[in-house]
Amino acid sequence: METVGKPRKQTGFRARKVDAGHADLGESELARPPADLRHIERNLALTAVELHPQIVGSAPRPMLWKGEEDTRAFAQRLAGHPAVKDAFIALHGDLGAGKTTLVRHLLRALGAEGRIKSPTYAVVEPYALPGLDAWHFDFYRFDDPREWEDAGFRDIFAGPGLKLAEWPGNAGALLPVADLDIHLAVGDGDAREVGVQARTPRGQELLACV
Ligand SMILES: Nc1ncnc2c1ncn2[C@@H]1O[C@H](COP(=O)(O)OP(=O)(O)OP(=O)(O)O)[C@@H](O)[C@H]1O
Ligand SMILES: [Mg+2]
Repeated sequence: METVGKPRKQTGFRARKVDAGHADLGESELARPPADLRHIERNLALTAVELHPQIVGSAPRPMLWKGEEDTRAFAQRLAGHPAVKDAFIALHGDLGAGKTTLVRHLLRALGAEGRIKSPTYAVVEPYALPGLDAWHFDFYRFDDPREWEDAGFRDIFAGPGLKLAEWPGNAGALLPVADLDIHLAVGDGDAREVGVQARTPRGQELLACV
């Protein structure tokens, strides 16, 4: 099994969490800004809407994949939806949960040929597929935020194409909100207990087809 040789994870880079609910933040700090600041606030809000997709919350949809054939069938349904072309799909789950396996079935269904390597060392593997570009990330060893800029990851996530990411938590807040969060856990034998959650309207479209 490929996961046996997984290199040890180094100290992971984790973005700091923002404490949105600080107990010391009273009403006075939340007061409206002076009039001359209001237009700046409004412009910032508009910029944020332009830069970030609308974030939606859906309850995770539970699924049981009885074996790898079910994983493949799920990947094929996903690949059949046009919205997959520019989607960002985050894959969560322990070592050996089946993240790379799902990615392989998805890339194959989208027309990938040849060997599909796990990008554990390279962090990312790019694919030029018929009609779309795709990137398969594995952030398991990712611990240097400078690499985010230097390797062009920011540009990849800001641009078109399918982005698939294993161990997204190790990239912390550098990553945008995923369209779909897929959580995988090993069940009995080859079974996988799965939760699929849409975070954006594009994710909701995809969730409706799987
Ligand atoms: N239903 C299933 N779905 C996915 N993989 C399965 C399933 N049943 C068995 N497997 C096997 O489980 C293993 C999953 O390994 P995989 O490399 O995909 O895990 P991973 O989640 O990517 O782990 P890592 O965090 O180390 O990258 C593979 O050997 C695959 O063949
Ligand atoms: Mg993997």
